[in-house]
Amino acid sequence: MSDQASFRAQTLIEALPYIQRFSGQTVVIKYGGAAMKDEALKTSFALNVILLREVGIYPVVVHGGGPQIGRLLERLNISCEFVEGMRVTSPEVMDVVQMVLVGQVNTSIVGLINQHGGKAVGINGHSGLLTQAEKMQVTRQASEDQPPEIIDVGLVGKVVKVNPQVLHALEHGRFIPIIAPVGVGPDGESLNINADLVASAMAAGLRASKLVLLTDTPGVLDDKGELITELTRAKARELMQKGVIKGGMIPKVNCCLEALEAGVESAHIIDGRVPNALLLEIFTDKGVGTILEG
Ligand SMILES: Nc1ncnc2c1ncn2[C@@H]1O[C@H](COP(=O)(O)OP(=O)(O)OP(=O)(O)O)[C@@H](O)[C@H]1O
Ligand SMILES: [Mg+2]
Repeated sequence: MSDQASFRAQTLIEALPYIQRFSGQTVVIKYGGAAMKDEALKTSFALNVILLREVGIYPVVVHGGGPQIGRLLERLNISCEFVEGMRVTSPEVMDVVQMVLVGQVNTSIVGLINQHGGKAVGINGHSGLLTQAEKMQVTRQASEDQPPEIIDVGLVGKVVKVNPQVLHALEHGRFIPIIAPVGVGPDGESLNINADLVASAMAAGLRASKLVLLTDTPGVLDDKGELITELTRAKARELMQKGVIKGGMIPKVNCCLEALEAGVESAHIIDGRVPNALLLEIFTDKGVGTILEG
């Protein structure tokens, strides 16, 4: 037998304890827009998700699309501002957000998985009222001697309630759900929700065993720019206060902490630019990012 064949067999055996441990459990995966740049990596992601499903794990994918939304807004000459990391969303911007997330990003992930033999179905917050939301109130502390100012960020939402019925129905049919982070407001309106928030709400609502956030950095970095492999709650809060964790990393870390509070066993922020990042994180001891444990 060739060395290569024997190495492959060994690799499969090494994955066995992890497969046994996680088979039958739900893993919620957030695929960040920033990690979706490269075609080969997108294919690697699709194959990883299919493999998880084939070994009896239930992957639920929530995707972002920040850079993709930014590009279309630019092409359409629609300017838009960011406040506290949140995109100020006018009705005109919301149309673009929905077009990009549901029409473009969601459909392309579903297509890629199906093209490689998986059974993916694209849904969003409106589907079976999956992601019920309300407008988010954003406050900004301009100076210490003044009360915080309330800023209207438009059609930006936060999750109020998740209705996992549609996910259970898909699981029953062995479909892989791919969720776009568009929520449905009290009057049936679409709200733009940060995908990290949607992922953590799904993880809590489904009692997932893991929440895995794939992004475009090695994980959470410290003040020297070095990877923190294990992050405690206390350290996470300290780094946010000091401003070491900032921008798009803030909702990610907060969502991990909330998911852990809700009973999810572990939350991972990993480097989506590494081929097979998902499999490496779930099926080996050497993760590829930062783990937060409950
Ligand atoms: N301490 C930190 N460690 C690592 N990254 C950090 C840190 N603080 C801020 N960041 C920033 O957070 C960014 C990741 O969040 P971002 O919202 O840009 O991507 P995403 O959530 O993966 O994609 P999307 O928002 O489209 O879903 C990194 O690219 C990095 O610039
Ligand atoms: Mg983000």
